[in-house]
Amino acid sequence: MSTTLVIGALGQIGSDLVPALARQDGAAQVIAADVRLPGPALNVPFELLDCTDADSLHALVVRREVGTIYHLAALLSASAEERPHAAWRLNMNGLLTVLEEARLGGCRLFVPSSVAAFGPLTPVHAPQDTVQRPVSMYGVTKVSGELLCDYYAAHFGLDVRGLRYPGLISSSAPPGGGTTDYAVEIFHAALEHGHYTCFLRPDTRLPMMYMPDAIRATLELMRADPKQWRHRNAFNVQALSFTPQELADAIQRHLPGFTMRYEPDPVRQAIADSWPQSTDDSAARSEWGWQPAYDLERLCADMLERLRSLTPALQGHHYAK
Ligand code: NAD
Ligand code: SER
Repeated sequence: MSTTLVIGALGQIGSDLVPALARQDGAAQVIAADVRLPGPALNVPFELLDCTDADSLHALVVRREVGTIYHLAALLSASAEERPHAAWRLNMNGLLTVLEEARLGGCRLFVPSSVAAFGPLTPVHAPQDTVQRPVSMYGVTKVSGELLCDYYAAHFGLDVRGLRYPGLISSSAPPGGGTTDYAVEIFHAALEHGHYTCFLRPDTRLPMMYMPDAIRATLELMRADPKQWRHRNAFNVQALSFTPQELADAIQRHLPGFTMRYEPDPVRQAIADSWPQSTDDSAARSEWGWQPAYDLERLCADMLERLRSLTPALQGHHYAK
């Protein structure tokens, strides 16, 4: 039986995707790879890998008999704006290297896109097929990546699939330098300090999703039969759409003493202002049955419970329930 390789496995998504794949296929079938070393909790085989190194990737795919690749290595929006050339090298050269290895090795491939692939000319409720003129370097690499994946599917018959993830909220690993990181930081700050200083304006509405929904969407997409699909590499998947103020209000319902103030960061605010507020995911719903499970209330309750169980010291904190 062939194995599944997760590249960028130690990041925010990989930290939840790897255990989900291990539950689905068995831990011995999942290979986690990253440019940095894992902590002791990782319970699947690990490989140190730079995804831009084609020879090392090829050797790994052959040695581990890889049949499916989840390619998660990228620089996210805020980091990419600080280091645009490094972002192009990783997000584009890395993707091209992985696409080529998947083509040569006959692997199935998952490549995530983002709502960052849209831009200020996109309608605020972004249709599936619409104008995409992103203004951030991250967005430029994401829309280019969508097109490159379409090209490999059309010209080489590669089975490559993808989702335009919204901002993702999770408790397993910290976010990797994005514009939506505030929506994770706020939970840690609320439990530890009872206060958070937000780097976006209170009325900045963005599409968001809780990680369990994102992992389920990813696995369902990869299990689905693509025969009747009209789309393939960049499905909109909508779950939540909220502002920092609305998230703070929801957290206050659990932690009444929680306070938030705002110090907008011009770079991340400009990126957020260029993104849509929500997306039309009717293609994902009709083509492979996408359905989100978590609303804002359920997300907040679950995040706070998980963080409290991960950090026993917070259980006795005066902000705890
Ligand atoms: P992350 O930054 O948390 O993790 C990326 C991982 O890639 C890190 O562990 C990093 O060490 C690793 N990496 C960096 N350079 C590498 C290299 N050269 N070779 C191998 N590994 C390398 O990112 P994430 O949040 O897990 O995002 C994964 C993917 O999903 C990215 O393509 C991102 O654009 C996309 N996405 C994420 C979100 C989100 O909110 N997290 C939203 C939309 C799209
Ligand atoms: N959460 C990601 C970011 O903010 C969106 O792709 O960069």
